[in-house]
Amino acid sequence: MEKKKILIIGDDLVSARDTVKMLRDIGYPVIALVALGKKALSIIKKKQPHLVLVNGRLRGKRAGMELARRILEELELPVLILVDRSEFRAIKPTIGKLGCGCLLKPVDKQNIEMAIETTLARHVLEKKIKDRAKKALLESEERYFQLVDNISEGVVIQDKKGIITSANERFLELIGYKRKEVLGRPITAFLGEGWLKKEEGLPEDRWRSIELAWKRKDGKRIYTILSRRPIHDPKGRFEGYVSVLTDITERRQVELELRRSQEELRSLSQHLQSIRESESKRIAGEIHDILGQQLTALKIDLSWLSSRAAGLGESGQEIQNKISAMADLVDKTIQSVQKISAELRPVLLDDLGLGPAIEWLAQDFENRTKIKCRVRLACDTLDLDPDCSTAIFRISQEALTNVARHARATAVDIHLAEENGELLLKIGDNGKGIKENEVHAPTSLGLMGMRERIRPFGGKLEITGSPEKGTLLTVAVPLERGRKRGSEKSK
Ligand SMILES: Nc1ncnc2c1ncn2[C@@H]1O[C@H](COP(=O)(O)OP(=O)(O)OP(=O)(O)O)[C@@H](O)[C@H]1O
Ligand SMILES: [Mg+2]
Repeated sequence: MEKKKILIIGDDLVSARDTVKMLRDIGYPVIALVALGKKALSIIKKKQPHLVLVNGRLRGKRAGMELARRILEELELPVLILVDRSEFRAIKPTIGKLGCGCLLKPVDKQNIEMAIETTLARHVLEKKIKDRAKKALLESEERYFQLVDNISEGVVIQDKKGIITSANERFLELIGYKRKEVLGRPITAFLGEGWLKKEEGLPEDRWRSIELAWKRKDGKRIYTILSRRPIHDPKGRFEGYVSVLTDITERRQVELELRRSQEELRSLSQHLQSIRESESKRIAGEIHDILGQQLTALKIDLSWLSSRAAGLGESGQEIQNKISAMADLVDKTIQSVQKISAELRPVLLDDLGLGPAIEWLAQDFENRTKIKCRVRLACDTLDLDPDCSTAIFRISQEALTNVARHARATAVDIHLAEENGELLLKIGDNGKGIKENEVHAPTSLGLMGMRERIRPFGGKLEITGSPEKGTLLTVAVPLERGRKRGSEKSK
C-alpha cells in the first residue's frame, strides 16, 4: 500500500531532521519541513499532505496547539503531535478536545509508524461520521426549506443588526424582489414610506403582530400582518429575529371599500334626514300660517254672521245656534292645526331653543299618556347649533315614544345639563328596563337612528336598563361641536 505524504512542522528543525530520516527509512515521503509561524498554515494548504506531524518543544508555545487546531478544523487534515513527557501533562486536555494523535518522545520507527497509521485511520473514520452527519443535516435543512417555502406566509430571518439573512419564496413573491436583492439588506429598505421609519417600531420581545405596508419592486403597495420574535443561540445570546408575514392587502381593500360605503350610506341618511327636517319645517309653517289665518278669518266671518242673525229675532236664534256650533268646530280645527304643525316641527325649537321645546314635548307627552314627565334644565340651550338642537329634540321625541310604547313606566325624568364641556341629556324611566340584547340589536332601528342623528356632532349615546331601575338613555355631545359656529362662550 502506498505510504501517505507527511508534512512536519516544529520549532526545532534540527531535531526534526532525525524524525524526517526515521520516517523516510520506514517509507513515508516527507514533503516539507515547516517552521512554526504565521505562514505555516498557508504552506500546509499549498503542499496538501496526508498528515501533519507537529514536532518539537511546545511548552509555552500556545501557537503550536492553536496551529494544530486550525489544521484540523480548517484544513481538515489529521495531526500527530510528538511531545516530551515533561510537557505532555500540560497539553493533554487540549489534545483530548481537539482529537489529534499524540506520541511521547523519544520515538522509534515502530511506534511512530503505528501512531501515524492509527491517526490516519481515526481521521478517516471521523470524516465518515462527519460526512454522514453533514448529509443528514443537509437533508433536514432541505426539508425545512421545502416546508418553509411552501407555506402561504412570508418568512424572513434577520441578524442582530436587522439585516435579512434568509427569506422564503413567499416573502420574495410578496415584495416582488429576487433573493439576491433581498439578502444582506435591512428589512426596513422594503417598507412603504411613512409607515415605520425606525426599526425600533417593530415588536421586539415576543410574538407580536403589527400591520405593515411594503413597497414592492414594481411600486405597488401591499399590506401584511407581521409577527416577529427574537431568536437566541443555545447560550441565550440574542442572534436576530424571525418574522412571519401574512398578506392582508385584499382584506384591507375590502375593509376600505366597506368603510367607504358605510360613510356614503351615513351621509346619505344624514342628507335625507336634513331634507325631511326642512320639509317638515316648511309644511309645519304653511299649515300653521296659511290654514291658521284662513281659519281665523272664518271665525271672524262667523261672528259677523252671528251678530247679523241676532237682529232677525226669534227665527235668527236657530241660525245663531248653528253658527256657534260652527265656531266651536273652527276652534277645534285651529287647535288641531296647531298640534299637527307643532308635531311636525315645534316653532318653539326655532324660536326659543331646545330647552323650551323639550318642556313642551314633555307636557304634550304627559297630557297624551298620563305618564308623569319631569324636566330639569340646567343649561343654556340658546346658543346650540340648530341642527344639533334638532337632533337632540328628535332623540328625546323618539325616546319618549319608546317609553310610551315599551316601558310600562309611570314616570319619566328628563335632565338637560352641561358637564365637563359636554351637553348631557338624560332620559330615565321607571319601567321594565331595556334588555342588553335589545340595545345593539340590528332590528333596533329607532335606537340606531338616534345614534346616527348625534354622530355628526361627535356625540355618543348610551342606553342601559334593568328591571329595578328602568331605562336610562344618555346623550353626550362635546359642546365645542354642538354650539353655533362663532358662538363659543366668550362670556
Ligand atoms: N324605554 C324603554 N323601556 C323598555 N324597553 C325599551 C325602551 N326603549 C326601547 N326598548 C326596547 O328596545 C327595542 C328597540 O327600540 P327601537 O326604538 O329601536 O325600536 P322600536 O321602538 O321597537 O321600533 P321603532 O323603529 O318604531 O322605534 C324596543 O323594541 C323595546 O323592546
Ligand atoms: Mg322606537
